[in-house]
Amino acid sequence: LIDGILKTWKGATTEVISTISSTPEYAPTVLGSIPSMGEKEALEAINSSHNAFNNGQGVWPTMKVQDRIKCMENFVQQMKETRSEVVKLLMWEIGKNKADSEKEFDRTVEYIYDTIEEYKVLNHEGARFTKVQGINAMIKRSPLGVVLCLGPYNYPLNETFALLIPALIMGNTVVFKPAKFGVLLLSPLLKAFHAAFPKGVINILYGRGRAVAAPIMKSGLVTVLSLIGNSKSAIALQDLHPSKNKLRLILGLEAKNPAIILPDANIDLAVSECVLGSLSFNGQRCTALKIMYVHESIAEEFNKKFSAKVDALPFGNPWDENAFLTPLPEPDKPAYIQGLIDDAQAKGANIINEKGGERTENYIFPAVLFPVNKNMRVYHEEQFGPVVPIMTFKDIQEPLDDMAASDYGQQVSLFGKDIHTVAPLIDVLVNLVCRVNLNSLCQRGPDVFPFTGRKDSAVGTLSIHDALRSFSIRTFVAAKDN
Ligand code: G3H
Repeated sequence: LIDGILKTWKGATTEVISTISSTPEYAPTVLGSIPSMGEKEALEAINSSHNAFNNGQGVWPTMKVQDRIKCMENFVQQMKETRSEVVKLLMWEIGKNKADSEKEFDRTVEYIYDTIEEYKVLNHEGARFTKVQGINAMIKRSPLGVVLCLGPYNYPLNETFALLIPALIMGNTVVFKPAKFGVLLLSPLLKAFHAAFPKGVINILYGRGRAVAAPIMKSGLVTVLSLIGNSKSAIALQDLHPSKNKLRLILGLEAKNPAIILPDANIDLAVSECVLGSLSFNGQRCTALKIMYVHESIAEEFNKKFSAKVDALPFGNPWDENAFLTPLPEPDKPAYIQGLIDDAQAKGANIINEKGGERTENYIFPAVLFPVNKNMRVYHEEQFGPVVPIMTFKDIQEPLDDMAASDYGQQVSLFGKDIHTVAPLIDVLVNLVCRVNLNSLCQRGPDVFPFTGRKDSAVGTLSIHDALRSFSIRTFVAAKDN
């Protein structure tokens, strides 16, 4: 969708291959193909968004609030009709199980409605006049300019839209490039984008990052880089911008969220939350629990119950009714996870669950590794897949020191009962990360909650409320009585 035209592509294409199959006769399936666009289309797209914004004088950034809301309502109305097709593609393209795929779609629809409501509140507040020293002031929020938006493969709909929708509704124009996996599922939505928004307000293109995102950044026409992914790509893209210091960044990046299980924790609760927290969608969530710190006095019981629960998780195709664990969409992921396991075993860890590390071509059963130490790769790397490292601690200062030394600072899960221990700990933990989950797993939602991180985990805050502010600037009109 470039400059208001749904183009028919005649150039080179790239096949979209699905690795999703739990049968032993596994064979990758070609699901479709996408255009391999390059610099020419990238420049068409960025020029189109730049022209549509027209330095703040375009139709979209100057449109009345009610009319922008109508466009968004029109979009979401049409989007709802694509549910079954998008859900099917979520399962086939990224292997997300049926319940979670449906949840991702429904959560996104709800996200759009909630954003519209929050936008109304924001404008209602903004419409209030205050009078100070004889000057009437009307505070507003105004758009920033042109946004380049790059979404992740693990939430190709929901997280992408958590950038796209607030950026659009605030009056910015957007160029959007989907991730490598979870790309076909946007096709059913192209018509809705095309029908709902004026020409150039949203441009959607396909291609490798270096082929399309690089020329877009080099053009210098991007005002905001908004990306969910890794810090390496974010820095590389930022560096391509001719005036990178003026670029606004809204980034959701890596995390290595720990769970800390105190001696008085409810072990059964901690086990269920940690299994879900570490292995929902096979651990392919930036919010997943990626390292466990268990107090040495309860480690034996915790490990036994945790391993048994992991071994009982049903594996299957995403569309199988009970499947919790599903095949992995990235063909090289099983080998990468195997590498982490081999390294940990060579340095003294054991796989403590029976099924841990069982391999097929496109899957590796979650391995629970114990005891993990700081010399192991799995301690440092964001595994983003099915492997769970467990460490023990004697003194609570040990996990706190590790968190302070970490490059990341998104969330933590803390399990414990005694309020006199837990309360002062929370005061420390909120200074190390941005969300403390007491007796529960780490997660992003509900989407009204702030979603951000310290250090290399994020730049800017995404919640419905915060995202509208992130994608805009506070302006005001000051008027003297006459
Ligand atoms: O990959 C990171 C996602 O934002 C995780 O979202 O906690 O809702 O699964 P979630």
